[in-house]
Amino acid sequence: MPTIRVYDREGKLHELDAPVGWSVMEVIREAGLPIEAACGGCCACATCHVYVDPSWLGRLEPPHADETLMLDEAFQVQDNSRLSCQIKVTPELDGLTVTLAPEF
Ligand code: FES
Repeated sequence: MPTIRVYDREGKLHELDAPVGWSVMEVIREAGLPIEAACGGCCACATCHVYVDPSWLGRLEPPHADETLMLDEAFQVQDNSRLSCQIKVTPELDGLTVTLAPEF
């Protein structure tokens, strides 16, 4: 099973088992880390905002237009911002590293 590496808001690293087909948001939420994900993964809230390690950015599918629109409304957006509910776990993402963005 792939592993996803998540830095929480205190800078602590969590290495999480990530079932293929789940979203990164679901993996983070299932692990009990503080991610609001208010819309449940419908790309309608931006409360699953994460920063993707720059070394991984080019290996992800680019964001769809809906994700880009939601990120436009998020706070503290960076070039490496993504909505974690829109990143689907694949075997190729083993080792993906993200950091939880600040809460609203
Ligand atoms: S959970 Fe709402 S946009 Fe990702």
